[in-house]
Amino acid sequence: MEKIILTGDRPTGKLHLGHYVGSLRRRVELQDSGLYDRIFIMIADAQALTDNADDPDKVRRNVVEVALDYLACGLDPTRSTLFIQSQVPELCELAFYYMNLVTVQRLQRNPTVKAEIQLRGFAEGAVEGDTQQRPGIPVGFFTYPISQAADITAFKATTVPVGEDQEPMLEQTREIVHKFNSVYGEVLVEPEILLPDNAACLRLPGTDGKAKMSKSLGNCIYLSDPADEVRRKVMGMYTDPDHLRVEDPGKVEGNTVFTYLDAFCRPEHFGRHLPDYASLDELKAHYRRGGLGDVKVKRFLIAVLDETLEPVRRRRAEWEQRIEEVYAILDAGSAAARERAAATLGEVRRAMRIDYFADRSLIESQAADYRNARREAPKR
Ligand code: TRP
Repeated sequence: MEKIILTGDRPTGKLHLGHYVGSLRRRVELQDSGLYDRIFIMIADAQALTDNADDPDKVRRNVVEVALDYLACGLDPTRSTLFIQSQVPELCELAFYYMNLVTVQRLQRNPTVKAEIQLRGFAEGAVEGDTQQRPGIPVGFFTYPISQAADITAFKATTVPVGEDQEPMLEQTREIVHKFNSVYGEVLVEPEILLPDNAACLRLPGTDGKAKMSKSLGNCIYLSDPADEVRRKVMGMYTDPDHLRVEDPGKVEGNTVFTYLDAFCRPEHFGRHLPDYASLDELKAHYRRGGLGDVKVKRFLIAVLDETLEPVRRRRAEWEQRIEEVYAILDAGSAAARERAAATLGEVRRAMRIDYFADRSLIESQAADYRNARREAPKR
């Protein structure tokens, strides 16, 4: 069977380090591995609009920012198809049919949607005109897991590299595939989620150490942040509040600087930037014993991030001077994605018995039935 990747991001802002360790870095590795037949990377503008209906310009502006972040990270448009969700209208059609296969009750149990409803202040019992909270939950937002199932299955994706928060969407997708195939026949492919393999990458905390890195919490380091901004943010990062003096023993668990090192640091970084230590385990052991200051660890993290982000910044700066070309890449990618989605839609319509004009046997048999009925009917 073909191995197909589909994944994507909502264009509501520039991408940050959480996106990078949670999925972006992996996508580039998968692309470079050459093990996949097709790779589709989608800028999910239609999904972004499900909770930004009143701010279309924000979504519009950020489409190219996300594309720049993709190209900066090393996604290569000759090997990966980069496209814009709204430019593939087949995805809407597919979602519309899938809606018949999912209950409201099932959607209400989706933990990610539940959490996002809270986060966005959509009041569950709200009435129109309520000024305290945003009035009610938009239907489109509530049903976006179904639209996401359409995104994935339209491409017959086998592999979906995403962060942990997307697990419920994949579960929902697999259920839809199962239901569709059992009702209409084997057409759709069940996808597998591909999660980051280390806990720090699964859920990178923000610089405040409190929650997941997220734009709305203002605790992000962006891929496009200049080096001095990254330095400033790392220097202000949350560590162990009980580690007051250098000689005090320190805690590594829940210490954001060490969590970031878990996500970014590789053994070779020590030789280049902190040769007194051979490994992250050694550095952690020293911190736990006492005698290792926060500033020294932060300086090391800054060096590691700088080494990681420098090529990203360089590529971004180049693409920023070729915006017309970036749009042309998205245009061509969208056309290629549309072709693939349309092929699946053709199979879906046939399976669902709504391919009227393509089905000569339907037309001919109904015509024959009526002709025969007339012939056999007693003359009046
Ligand atoms: N929900 C994803 C996010 O918020 C974006 C997305 C939309 C997506 N459709 C998708 C991811 C399909 C993977 C597959 O980041």
